[in-house]
Amino acid sequence: RIMKRQMQLRSDIGIFNEPFLAIYESLIPAEEEKAKQKQLLELLERLVCKEWPNARIYLYGSCANSFGVSKSDIDVCLAIEYRDTDKSEILLRLADILQSDNLQNVQALTRARVPIVKLMDPMTGLSCDICINNVLAVINTKLLRDYAQIDARLRQLAFIVKHWAKSRGVNETYQGTLSSYAYVIMCIHFLQQRRPAILPCLQEMETTYLVTVDDIECAFFDQVEKLHNFGSRNKETIAQLVWAFFNYWAYRHDYANSVISVRTGSIISKQEKDWTRRIGNDRHLICIEDPFEVSHDLGRVVDKHSIKVLREEFERAADIMQHDPNPWRSKV
Ligand code: GTP
Ligand code: MG
Repeated sequence: RIMKRQMQLRSDIGIFNEPFLAIYESLIPAEEEKAKQKQLLELLERLVCKEWPNARIYLYGSCANSFGVSKSDIDVCLAIEYRDTDKSEILLRLADILQSDNLQNVQALTRARVPIVKLMDPMTGLSCDICINNVLAVINTKLLRDYAQIDARLRQLAFIVKHWAKSRGVNETYQGTLSSYAYVIMCIHFLQQRRPAILPCLQEMETTYLVTVDDIECAFFDQVEKLHNFGSRNKETIAQLVWAFFNYWAYRHDYANSVISVRTGSIISKQEKDWTRRIGNDRHLICIEDPFEVSHDLGRVVDKHSIKVLREEFERAADIMQHDPNPWRSKV
């Protein structure tokens, strides 16, 4: 079945190139959005430093990893040292400070899995989540941004995949489907696996960037300007790559035995990671290793029901691209 699908790739797959690139272009945030983000960040920095002079503010997530589409919320991390209080108290104090400066809808969610303060800035219209000391997220943001600079096809592919996932309702972690972060990791892995490879494995190269956070050593090659030509021997177009991405997740990935690993640039076995059975709430039905928190499966949210939904959506996308004579008719 797999071979047959491979050989049947439609000869006019190129009809998808232009529409995909048009979607990609339409999703790129405008410069004025960047300016608004900067404005809000500066405001937050001023307010925070008045209260905690040694604290710092970092952007992370899609507004800083270059995979953010237009009109995304922004993710902010407050880096702060504290001793005699706990995180909830800091969050509540932060919410107070923000509230008294006219920021709107300020809410401290102290009991969430990742506790945050949410707010809306009426000056820029931007919504924002602030977490505390989530330094790993700041570093994985840098890793993703560095990968994006190596080959333009990564950002194009990830935008199309994120757009598809949002349109099809499979970008909802609370419903058991995958986070945007997980989809981008899947795209990076996929491009590492093409032959010739389109992306290298930065964590297997010489270390030029090294930070240790919570006993986790984050080391990788970050002089990506030296890798601009890395993928140039591979001539695949965005249409071919999007098709191959869905085909991989629909028909080729070995869900029973494989873990995708951007850290090693390869596939590793579930056995090796002891991810063969449900442990607590982690079901390991689709296994996506976090590049730094290696015990962390980004697919852990996926359950018995949602794995079916996801796989059917991958198949649907692959099949439309493969067979539909008029794929743009009322479909996403
Ligand atoms: P959109 O908001 O959908 O555009 O994408 P996003 O990249 O901001 O993704 P999301 O809001 O899902 O996550 C924000 C950031 O949190 C990610 O970019 C990561 O840096 C971090 N993050 C999200 N989920 C995880 C996770 O499961 N593990 C780790 N280590 N970091 C995560
Ligand atoms: Mg986000």
